[in-house]
Amino acid sequence: MNCSWLNSTQIIKDPNVEDYFIRLDPESSFADYHKKHGDDFAKWYETGRVVIMDQVPIDPNYDLLWKVTYPYGDRGLKKISADAISAPFKNSKDVLSWLFKKDETLGRKYQREVSRVSKILLNAAATLFPRYRLTGGKLSWRFAVTHTEGLHFDVYGGNDPAHILRIFFNIDSFPRIWCLGDRSETVLADYDIDRTWGRNPQAWNKRLSKEHGGDTFGFQPSSSPQHIVLFAPGSMWIAHSQYVSHGPIFGRRMVGMSISVDPKLMLNPELVFSNMPTRLGR
Ligand SMILES: [Fe+2]
Repeated sequence: MNCSWLNSTQIIKDPNVEDYFIRLDPESSFADYHKKHGDDFAKWYETGRVVIMDQVPIDPNYDLLWKVTYPYGDRGLKKISADAISAPFKNSKDVLSWLFKKDETLGRKYQREVSRVSKILLNAAATLFPRYRLTGGKLSWRFAVTHTEGLHFDVYGGNDPAHILRIFFNIDSFPRIWCLGDRSETVLADYDIDRTWGRNPQAWNKRLSKEHGGDTFGFQPSSSPQHIVLFAPGSMWIAHSQYVSHGPIFGRRMVGMSISVDPKLMLNPELVFSNMPTRLGR
């Protein structure tokens, strides 16, 4: 990157929100990151710290990737899974044929680069978290303009007992801007969770997102206190999106990883998200 301020993630901290950020100096390999910090990665993640690594050692073909943009708007695409991108190019109405109908050659190059970089990202995750014994994971390639989502806690279907690892990589030429607010335990302390809340923390997240974050996808900014973070191009961040409230303010191209982990492999299995009601005595 030519513009020096773009090389480094900027954080505008709100003193009313806990400072849970961990910033790591650049290393020349993911193995070096792990050599230096070891199981701290698991400890930080499981306890809801947000770990930021600028200029991670990944070499996407940016010239190629920045030629691709998913259409924005009602008929647009927010994301495509890496698996869907690697599916055979058909002449039917599949998403890749539709996206690259004017330039199938670019589409095929995009497919190959997505497949190559996806493998690198999954290897990086496995290297940073060896105790989780990762063998795969879901990647979503988000090459559409995203903006002004309210603060929210992520919700997955049902009451998934797995530990979900979330890692994000800004693959654009411009910062990805997020607001980041309180962690769920901090917010929950203000609520009298009676029986009507049930014991499903996914349902808690849904309710907290509605009451705490305000208008997701809308134009009513959240009134809750929040840090603002400009994640630099080429930066990676690791954030437990079920525990830490967050919302994109602006973004263009990002890869997000969601990886299921056996809770028994956690540094502290009691911290698995599905155990929150028991842990908090609710
Ligand atoms: Fe989210």
